[in-house]
Amino acid sequence: MNCDIERVLYTEKEIREAVKSLGERITCDYAGKAPVLLCILKGSSVFHADLMRAIDLPCEIDFLVAKSYGMSAQSSGKLRILKEPDIDIKNRDIIIVEDILDTAVTLSTLIHTLSLKEPASLKTAVFLDKNLGIKKPVKADYKCFDAENEFLVGYGLDYAERYRNLPYVGVLKKEIYTDN
Ligand code: PRP
Repeated sequence: MNCDIERVLYTEKEIREAVKSLGERITCDYAGKAPVLLCILKGSSVFHADLMRAIDLPCEIDFLVAKSYGMSAQSSGKLRILKEPDIDIKNRDIIIVEDILDTAVTLSTLIHTLSLKEPASLKTAVFLDKNLGIKKPVKADYKCFDAENEFLVGYGLDYAERYRNLPYVGVLKKEIYTDN
């Protein structure tokens, strides 16, 4: 285990099983359709790559680059969209693939923005839903795991762009992201 990690929250095996089972659910729910799996970069890159291979449908993939955290451990509260999807979203079944639902600034902004492009349907698949003890403006349609309000890294999740390549989800040691 990486020495900056306090403990592992979800192991590689647990993640593999959860993503497989989510893929099977989506395969059933979208039978006869060709959904677009829209990856929200960078954090969702690992989840997106695994989820698409767990879905047995003629789906398409696309990418949107958005940022709300920058190098900080806290959300800026504002979302910057750095790259729009390439495909025409109108009349398509879109599944937004998101690594973590934290403050929900990212997902609520994207749902609003993408809805304006008139997709046939718009749903969300979230790897981790963090419990902040507050009511969030959006609820994930699909999710793999719930998590408590701790600083999580790995499986695509970063702190200051590091730790995305850890194959598990871990709790980052406090001294790594605080000055004290
Ligand atoms: C992170 C994460 C989600 C978003 C969730 O992205 O990947 O997209 O924050 O947080 P929220 O629910 O509070 O909006 P970030 O802006 O750090 O960019 P990244 O994906 O490149 O890490």
